[in-house]
Amino acid sequence: MTVKVYKPSVDSSKNAWISDLDQYQKLYDESVNNPDEFWAGIAERITWTKKWEKVRSFDFIEGNIKYYEGGKLNVAYNCLDRHVEDGHGDQTALIWEGNNPAEDKRFTYNELKDEVSKFANVLKSNGIEKGDRVCLYMQMIPELTVAMLACARIGAVHSIVFGAFSSDSLRDRINDSACKALITQDTGVRGKKLNIPMKVKADKAVKETPSIEHVFVVKRTGEEVSMESGRDLWWHEEMAKASNDCPPQEMDAEDPLFILYTSGSTGKPKGVLHTTGGYLVYAAYTHELVFDYHEGDIYWCTADIGWITGHSYIVYGPLANRATTVMFEGVPNSPDFGRFWEIVDKHNINIFYTAPTALRALMREGDDWVLKHGLSSLRLLGTVGEPIKEPEWNWYYNIVGKGKCQIVDTWWQTETGGIMITPLPGATPIKPGSATFPFFGIEPVLLTEEGKEIEGNGVSGLLAIKAAWPGIMRTLYGDHERFKQTYFAMYPGYYFTGDGARRDEDGYYWITGRVDDVLNVSGHRIGTAEVEGAIGKAEGVAEAAVVGFPHDIKGQGIYAYVTLMADVEPSEDIQKAILKSVTNDIGPHSKPDKIQFTSALPKTRSGKIMRRILRKIAENEIDSLGDISTLADPSVVDALVQNRK
Ligand code: WTA
Repeated sequence: MTVKVYKPSVDSSKNAWISDLDQYQKLYDESVNNPDEFWAGIAERITWTKKWEKVRSFDFIEGNIKYYEGGKLNVAYNCLDRHVEDGHGDQTALIWEGNNPAEDKRFTYNELKDEVSKFANVLKSNGIEKGDRVCLYMQMIPELTVAMLACARIGAVHSIVFGAFSSDSLRDRINDSACKALITQDTGVRGKKLNIPMKVKADKAVKETPSIEHVFVVKRTGEEVSMESGRDLWWHEEMAKASNDCPPQEMDAEDPLFILYTSGSTGKPKGVLHTTGGYLVYAAYTHELVFDYHEGDIYWCTADIGWITGHSYIVYGPLANRATTVMFEGVPNSPDFGRFWEIVDKHNINIFYTAPTALRALMREGDDWVLKHGLSSLRLLGTVGEPIKEPEWNWYYNIVGKGKCQIVDTWWQTETGGIMITPLPGATPIKPGSATFPFFGIEPVLLTEEGKEIEGNGVSGLLAIKAAWPGIMRTLYGDHERFKQTYFAMYPGYYFTGDGARRDEDGYYWITGRVDDVLNVSGHRIGTAEVEGAIGKAEGVAEAAVVGFPHDIKGQGIYAYVTLMADVEPSEDIQKAILKSVTNDIGPHSKPDKIQFTSALPKTRSGKIMRRILRKIAENEIDSLGDISTLADPSVVDALVQNRK
């Protein structure tokens, strides 16, 4: 099969930071051959109050990674104050677009700095100090960005929990890192949901979180919520008393900036910890180069700040670069399927970054929703979170981009802090569906199952990274051993990504998806073990096994095989109970799409569930089930195939 290659247009190359492949190659070689010099140069883009002593050191065996050791800086200062000091206080920093199209707000750098400083003072006056953990459980409202930067300003470590997570998930995440304060809102609005009970869910969680001293509540909708006196404080009341003068706390390059929980292959979410200097340098540098950001561009990333994409590419990267960044409270299909494009026109968006799952959902509704809007401001498009396939790529390129915008398909992870494999818009000829080449300083390798590097092109293997880069996570909060085990122990000397990939004849990387028990559902990372645990809590359930299957819109859907207690029969009720249990335990985004009741699961004689077989059945690849002779009872498979959902 020949793949069509899309070269950058002369126009897009002309002004680009990196304008051809030779320039990319030259810089790339420098970045991997002389990493100390290279990353020292890149770090100059950040304002340091004290220069670092050592650019980098890392030991992938012990999991010790340091960048810019000895350097001192403050992230909020870098994202706000220095732009104000440079005379850009009146530039728009943040455009907030509400769920309701009639609602929007703009914050200049001056205004955002004031809000952040005030809330930083609120935190301080309520006992939050450098190093304390603060949990943020909010929808996409401006106060979320303000709260993040306020934490960064005083050196508190934020831990954002995506607003769809259940009370139980919130409670566990708060407890895992012993957060001292929680910031939430009365209720939330999202699409047609006008009353998401954030405070109610937070209250339930906080009943079992002994470390929480205060709950700060933003009044978003004005819906009545109960406030516990002494513990709960209204955001607006505290802000009204606070001064806008709050000197930024000087931080070590390796002081923690935030924790973000993500799913792994066991039931317990991992608290990915990012630090200050390296993370900021990497987020800012990748944002500028990958999106070819230039002064004056209006940039919109549609992700939720509850995920890493929002951290790095709505807040930290863009603001460090003095961009104008857009934050959207709503969803792509409300009030209608043209909402994204309406917003693009309304705010004259130049750079637009979204997830393939959103594109698939919108593509299905027909081109008219797009064609109604001019979209003439768009210059560059991006995707993240999952592989983009040809149909949605073509639609994105031709219908949204009118054949004149490059598409950057960016591969990276919560753990990597920033974009790792990606085209550079002025330089890289694009093959639709390929994330193309490594970013500067990134050395991807493909490994065999035994951990041997696979050389050459036209090969596939496990995707690992050879050396550290500034944005890599530093540990799992409170569990350095798990950090070492998960990412470094299996293939010593490498960071193992958990993804598989192919390197084609031309050296282009194609990500083939997770090779562990992690699913990617609508771009959300979901651990099968977490879902199994939640299903297991439903009354009457004996055991569950969860796998993914190809889903037209979500990319991957969740397929659950469930065995019931001996005296329980499958029924509508038990099905409902399972869905409810998952919603309560994790959140509605993790509900199985299909539930198949079965009297037994395929197990080896030693009792291990053979997921390979379950996966094949879910994918309807029943002709290639492979060897089933090692099963304790091979007849189980026939029953599973017959009753396939
Ligand atoms: C997947 C999101 C293919 C991958 C930033 C990875 C992708 C996981 C791409 C991380 C892409 C992300 N092409 N797959 N461009 N980007 N992935 O931690 O499986 O939420 O390991 O970070 O998403 O998801 P996470």
